Amino acid sequence: MLDYQAILEEIYSSLKKTEDTGEVASYIPELAKIPKDKLGIHLQLITGEDYAVGDALEKFSIQSISKVFSLSKAFQLVGNKLLTRVDVEPSGNPFNHLSLLELENGIPRNPLINSGAIVVADILLSNLKNPKEDFLNFVRELAHDDSINFNVKVAESERETGFNNYAAANLLKSFGNLQNDVDDVLDFYFHQCSIMMNCKQLTNAFFVYANKGKCLKNVLHLTPSQVKRINAIMLTCGFYDEAGEFAFEVGLPGKSGVGGGIVALLPHCFTIATWAPALNPQGNSYLGMQALEQFTTKTKLSIF
Ligand code: DON
Repeated sequence: MLDYQAILEEIYSSLKKTEDTGEVASYIPELAKIPKDKLGIHLQLITGEDYAVGDALEKFSIQSISKVFSLSKAFQLVGNKLLTRVDVEPSGNPFNHLSLLELENGIPRNPLINSGAIVVADILLSNLKNPKEDFLNFVRELAHDDSINFNVKVAESERETGFNNYAAANLLKSFGNLQNDVDDVLDFYFHQCSIMMNCKQLTNAFFVYANKGKCLKNVLHLTPSQVKRINAIMLTCGFYDEAGEFAFEVGLPGKSGVGGGIVALLPHCFTIATWAPALNPQGNSYLGMQALEQFTTKTKLSIF
């Protein structure tokens, strides 16, 4: 039997001694205010036990991790019709890259890059009665926690400097791949990205992806086939132009966000979330990647 608490503590103390060469995201000014020295890890086993170290209970902006929730909600609402508007191929490019979008006639490579997530946001806007409220409730239901909320300051801060996402949305609109107004779609998108959660809440919410669509309370939210597909998209596209490196070093499906969070999972076994705000040049948490590499190496638990 593995001593998970001891393993998390070993990883924590080794990372505390590591020089963090990453940088906190500054293109969203509110995120630049977060201290670089935060570090938290939370592990949730499918059997119910959980383990934590460091700042695992401090909330942070989940940013692109929210794209997994929006993709899940869109799958629930429109099923595979989603795939007529967004592809499922890795982009091999940064998360905010635009040139492929133009070359490929406004069909984003996948739902986890910004342009793909903006199309998914458009689908949610067209299919939810009260889009922001309904989406937030979906995330709260997955995590079993009603305290989860948007951070309006972060959403506003991103809107003020979101020129790249405006460019992506306008390009999508010009190709006829957005049904709603650019401003309305981006307002929804900036809010979904601003959701604040801690590592424990993220491991709870991601439980469905490790448990064939059933949440911690055993309620079915997604079909096993949808979960298989979402995990495949996370594995191949969850880390943008570093998806290969993450599969190579860590060997788990997962998703990162520029708030410094990463969530990953081993189907039928566990979910794990890390938070360390400083990012590597690809926009993924510098220490979070290392924490997960150490975890799968020490436990020998990965999909490969
Ligand atoms: O749209 C953006 O640029 C941010 N709201 C989300 C980007 C992000 O988290 C990329 N992930 N590592």
